[in-house]
Amino acid sequence: MPDKIQESKSEHLSQLEVLSKLTGQLAHEIKNPLSTIKINLKLVSEELNDLISSESGPNVADRNTRNFTRALRKVAVIQKETDRLEHILDDFLRYLDRTELQLVSVDVNELISDMIDFYTPQAYSHSITIRQGLYNKPLICRLDANMLKQVILNLFINAQQAMNEGGELIIRTDRQEKHVVIQISDTGGGITPDVLPHIFDTYYSSRPQGSGLGLPTAKKIVELHGGTIQVNSTSGKGTSFTVKLPVQD
Ligand SMILES: Nc1ncnc2c1ncn2[C@@H]1O[C@H](COP(=O)(O)OP(=O)(O)OP(=O)(O)O)[C@@H](O)[C@H]1O
Ligand SMILES: [Mg+2]
Repeated sequence: MPDKIQESKSEHLSQLEVLSKLTGQLAHEIKNPLSTIKINLKLVSEELNDLISSESGPNVADRNTRNFTRALRKVAVIQKETDRLEHILDDFLRYLDRTELQLVSVDVNELISDMIDFYTPQAYSHSITIRQGLYNKPLICRLDANMLKQVILNLFINAQQAMNEGGELIIRTDRQEKHVVIQISDTGGGITPDVLPHIFDTYYSSRPQGSGLGLPTAKKIVELHGGTIQVNSTSGKGTSFTVKLPVQD
């Protein structure tokens, strides 16, 4: 149904707009503390350089003490500003806690199909083949559809980023007793055992451009729905995320 796809695309776009507005605000808020930190680090490094290069003489010890005290004061400013940055980012993540879920009855198969339609052009342009195996009956859950779409999109994008040379994105849905199961797997580089315990940590990222907010956000959304998210990964072979959500009785 082209109308439906169109509608879900625009709904998704508005969600992206909200998110980009939020990240815009975030960028604005972190700009000031960040430049304060930068300036102070530069000054501290100049003062420390002075200490190293100062020659011996009667007044040098006094001057060194003064330099040292000044440098310590700047370190305190840097500490304060990094605390502020941490708070700003915590607040950003906590916006989810304040969000009220707009729960409606949703067929997870339909939601996943919409997301696959939405994502297929991007997958194609990254040489990624999508394979899907959806459960043969509707899988009805009480969900905030936009939030769940964000979870799925985060998992798709992570998979894509793990498959630089292309690969397969495998999407399955299933029913296990009182749960709907969504499994999203990729044939990317996988996650090494030392990294695996950290991937749901706030701000953990192995990518230079990554914010490390994708998976903690996904986890939070899934848990707000009374569900779970788990990962299985083999280094060099690929990764598989499993989301379980309570089925609507
Ligand atoms: N499918 C995957 N394959 C391999 N590694 C993954 C996969 N998904 C997540 N990771 C690892 O988990 C880390 C955290 O993922 P997360 O989505 O939270 O942050 P990110 O993708 O680095 O940044 P962003 O905030 O932009 O999403 C990634 O940096 C990566 O190391
Ligand atoms: Mg991510």
